[in-house]
Amino acid sequence: MATQTATETVVRDTFAVKSPDALGTTCHLFEKGEKTPFGDFRDDIIRDGFAVVKGAIPRDRADGYADKMYKWLEDFNLGFKRDDPSTVHWKNMPIITEKGMILGYGIQHEDFTWAVRQEPGVVGAFEKVYESEDLIVSFDSVGMTFPNRKDIAANNPWPHQDQDPAKPGFRCLQGLVNLLPNGPNDGGLIVCKGAHRLSEEFHKEFKDDADKIWAWTNEWYGFNDRGMKWLEDRGCTWEKVCAEPGDLILWDSRTPHYNLSPTGDKPRFCIYTCYLPVAEVSQEDLVRKKAAFENNDPTTHWPNALHVVSLPILRDGVPDPLNYKTPKSGSPKLSERGFRLTGIPYVKAEA
Ligand SMILES: [Fe+2]
Repeated sequence: MATQTATETVVRDTFAVKSPDALGTTCHLFEKGEKTPFGDFRDDIIRDGFAVVKGAIPRDRADGYADKMYKWLEDFNLGFKRDDPSTVHWKNMPIITEKGMILGYGIQHEDFTWAVRQEPGVVGAFEKVYESEDLIVSFDSVGMTFPNRKDIAANNPWPHQDQDPAKPGFRCLQGLVNLLPNGPNDGGLIVCKGAHRLSEEFHKEFKDDADKIWAWTNEWYGFNDRGMKWLEDRGCTWEKVCAEPGDLILWDSRTPHYNLSPTGDKPRFCIYTCYLPVAEVSQEDLVRKKAAFENNDPTTHWPNALHVVSLPILRDGVPDPLNYKTPKSGSPKLSERGFRLTGIPYVKAEA
């Protein structure tokens, strides 16, 4: 998930790098699905702009990943204990943004993060969409949001799309793997159902909007009050996506969305997973991505490492001394399939 909070502090954003213009060369999702329904989650993406792939990860393994995430928090030895809500405080935990994002500590390359990215049911959903097994995956963030936190800023709605409004068409399918029971009051993804189909019309009308919300990258667009009214006037409604542990939530990058924090008694845990066909990205992208992997660097949701992110993680106003880049589990040990997802095997040897 591209983080608007990253804005002012992204220090190694490669703005000259080009993101894929369209998925026209290798992906025919909309073209095919409009003619003949697929009979699965792909029809939901085409119609609604989002879908839930139920049981992408078997429940026992999903529970195991959630357990590892709790343990990861506890292993900082700052005081957090999973069974004691009174320990949910930034002083007792690694730093988590108000939107639930963990942006440092090498978590993007932890063993559980990579294990989720390599899960056959997760990769398999993207293989179906892109009709290719030659995919690369983002090194995106991990989400851990606890209910009713008063120790950090409020998580106000930030409706946005993660795609350049000047580039219409289907360009990216974003995803997150949900790892705890996630009902109506448990926070999580809110989507504007079907608005991806109005995206081109919307952005033609709002092209010269004087009240544009500032963005740190062209690949992010925030919907202001007038934009929200435009969507409402066309009958669009916002829907909270609910999911069970192990479900994969997918959304078209043109679909307006945001997240909310839990208001019940359960936290929300998720891992953001986004894949692109390797055929859609350049050798320059793959070389940059290889360096990001080897340095345990995070990226945003763009799998071609469009943005390699390096953010200061501040604890009480100073860089957190616990923000080690190397994951607690060490550098990732990947299966052959997982290693292909880094893009490294697709880097051509220099002549
Ligand atoms: Fe987003």
